[in-house]
Amino acid sequence: MEALFGDQEVVADLLTGYYTDYEPSSLWVAEHEGKVVGYLSGALDSRRYIWTMVRRLIPQIAIKSIIRGALWRPEAWGILMSGMTVLRLGGFHRHAGTDTYPAHLHVNVDKEFRSMKVGQLLMGRFLEQVKGAGLAGVHASVREDSPDSRRFFERLGFVEMERYPTIGPDSRKGRIAYVIVYGKELTS
Ligand SMILES: CC(C)(COP(=O)(O)OP(=O)(O)OC[C@H]1O[C@@H](n2cnc3c(N)ncnc32)[C@H](O)[C@@H]1OP(=O)(O)O)[C@@H](O)C(=O)NCCC(=O)NCCS
Repeated sequence: MEALFGDQEVVADLLTGYYTDYEPSSLWVAEHEGKVVGYLSGALDSRRYIWTMVRRLIPQIAIKSIIRGALWRPEAWGILMSGMTVLRLGGFHRHAGTDTYPAHLHVNVDKEFRSMKVGQLLMGRFLEQVKGAGLAGVHASVREDSPDSRRFFERLGFVEMERYPTIGPDSRKGRIAYVIVYGKELTS
């Protein structure tokens, strides 16, 4: 996303602002010798997440982008055009997820620490938290062209529910990326 947009602070606000500022209790960090090597940002109530993004964060981020001049960069217009295409293809209307699987998550492990069970450890902590809250399930979105990440979710018992178009690294070249939504039911 940084390569795509350029303004690191605006991208960070967009991708992590909800989790750090509105639900830090569902944000898990893995450390090795004092260095962060992975994180899982979760939300127990995806409807609250969407509401907060639309009503609070996105308007704040839009104002910040204008003040910082981020919207006047040529790449911003490329993303806007891709966003219009994604909208036309129905990408922002997701069907699966929030009813059956109310919680959602994003997980990321430093490249040097991958395949060492860090992701699995983070996921274990979050799933315990979701179960403890009495929720029926959890969902996550994974890039279609990322077989390792798909394998990670499938190995942990997640099943594919739907695919939708999204803005990706090749958006500036007019290429649309696809994302797979995976869901996992939790039994108490
Ligand atoms: C997906 C990701 C979080 C996995 O974290 P990780 O710490 O490397 O994964 P783990 O070591 O805990 O692996 C757990 C299982 O996932 C599968 N897996 C993990 N990495 C894999 C790889 N490179 N290839 C194939 N399977 C893999 C394995 O089945 C593994 O279990 P096993 O070793 O017992 O077979 C990490 O690769 C990552 O940060 N990817 C980029 C960000 C991303 O795509 N996030 C997901 C979308 S939000």
